[in-house]
Amino acid sequence: MTAPRDGAWYLLEQIPGPLLDWYHRSARVLPWRSHPTPYRVWISEIMLQQTRVEAAKPYYLRFLEALPDVPALAACPEDTLLKLWEGLGYYSRARNLQKAARLVMERHGGELPASFQALRALPGVGDYTAGAIASIAFGLPCPAVDGNVLRVTSRVTASYEDIGGAKIKVQVGDLIRKILPPQPGDFNQALMELGACVCLPNGEPLCGDCPLGDICQAKKLGLQGELPVKAPKKARRVQQLTVLLLRDEKGRLALRRRPAAGLLAGMWEPVNLPGRLTSEEVAAAVAGMGLTPLEVAPLPSGRHVFTHVEWEMTAWAVRVTGAGAGVVWAAPGELEVGYPLPSAFRQAGWWPSEG
Ligand code: ADE
Repeated sequence: MTAPRDGAWYLLEQIPGPLLDWYHRSARVLPWRSHPTPYRVWISEIMLQQTRVEAAKPYYLRFLEALPDVPALAACPEDTLLKLWEGLGYYSRARNLQKAARLVMERHGGELPASFQALRALPGVGDYTAGAIASIAFGLPCPAVDGNVLRVTSRVTASYEDIGGAKIKVQVGDLIRKILPPQPGDFNQALMELGACVCLPNGEPLCGDCPLGDICQAKKLGLQGELPVKAPKKARRVQQLTVLLLRDEKGRLALRRRPAAGLLAGMWEPVNLPGRLTSEEVAAAVAGMGLTPLEVAPLPSGRHVFTHVEWEMTAWAVRVTGAGAGVVWAAPGELEVGYPLPSAFRQAGWWPSEG
């Protein structure tokens, strides 16, 4: 095993003692930390992959109440599941949770397996998540390397290795495996916690509060603003979209389901078309759907940023008559109950009644 380029990686040997002391004094009280069953740890770690702790908390509590165990998750109707996830984004996380729950029912009798490899084999569970569940819920000696951990270790050791690179997670994981104390779950969480609460990104760490201040090379050399090194990401693709909030004479809204694969798979959406359509083009498109447009009124434009793509949305409120093809009509109120609608379509000024 080769250590990452540069960096005083041997310093990691010194961190378990002060880091664990600090964690046991200052760890945040989080709902999944009390009573860390494998199921609770799994759900929390999947939610926390792309969502901040404070934002995830209410979702986590609601999710656990609705689906308290693997059998409940495995049996949950898809729309209920997506509704529970609505607003968190990255919906493939929810679908993979359910696929994995069904596999756990088939292969492991409904109990998450106490093995890194068996956890890693589940949909949506990568090295990080398998390591987090294995160490936090089962006490197994596995590393769990996320962005927080990479930032902390890069600063402590003053490493200039790009933390966005392909190999660095594995390399840091191999180094951490060697220094794991007898409480690997606490140690992994302490590293993440330090990254989330003290060793903050963007050159603004709270070094005065850091338990690793005597060890940290970035602090000693004043490199907190330079480290970690992260190569810039590729620019996102920008797509123009025209969104139509079609309402019939009863005030019901036309919705359709997105395709089962791809971005926002299986979620519901208002009718939308590529490009920036004028009101005349909108009226023609609506007529093409078998509906009669009565009024086409502009709505504020909207924007939504996904990981790889950005939507710039022109929007119109359209009053129509007729049944239309390929849409369902959701009455006011029904929208909030039955139809998981992505945040991308919940733009300010579009939803006077549903909010
Ligand atoms: N981020 C993701 N999982 C976490 C955990 N268990 N503790 C702190 N931060 C986290």
